Amino acid sequence: MSSNPRANLIRILQHAYSGEVAAAFAYRGHWKSLKESPEKAQIKQIEAEEWDHRRRVGECLEKLGAGPRPVREKVFWTIGRTLGLTCHISGWFMPMYFAGRLESRNSVEYEDAATFAKDLDMHDCVEDLLDMARVELEHEVFFHKIVAGHRLLPIMRKIFGWS
Ligand SMILES: [Fe+2]
Ligand SMILES: [Fe+2]
Repeated sequence: MSSNPRANLIRILQHAYSGEVAAAFAYRGHWKSLKESPEKAQIKQIEAEEWDHRRRVGECLEKLGAGPRPVREKVFWTIGRTLGLTCHISGWFMPMYFAGRLESRNSVEYEDAATFAKDLDMHDCVEDLLDMARVELEHEVFFHKIVAGHRLLPIMRKIFGWS
């Protein structure tokens, strides 16, 4: 991280912007693989929230005179599509585990981003970013509940982290 709040903020927002597309596609694959249920409706709602985040992050980037990084976009688009597809093939645990991991990073990133945006007097972005940090935490808690107790969770945690 540099000492330039603008550069830091752009870097975090570029990460988040691409992270959101991966999460959104993973959730889309997940709810599409489920039968009608309250859980399915909730994950559909979460997908919509991720697209909304992406839009708001894009707006902050624009205000900074910046935009997404094309290579990162391609990589995360592919990750999201792959996670979304694996929901139909390998069952839901793996994609949801990785989506949960993406989420846990997101909420911290949005809080950091809000601090930098404050330094830059970008008050609209600060409010958006804090709101998104709060929503990401809700998502993380929701997915924690979903994967909790799954037989693969202890080993995945050992390999990939996320407590
Ligand atoms: Fe999000
Ligand atoms: Fe999220």
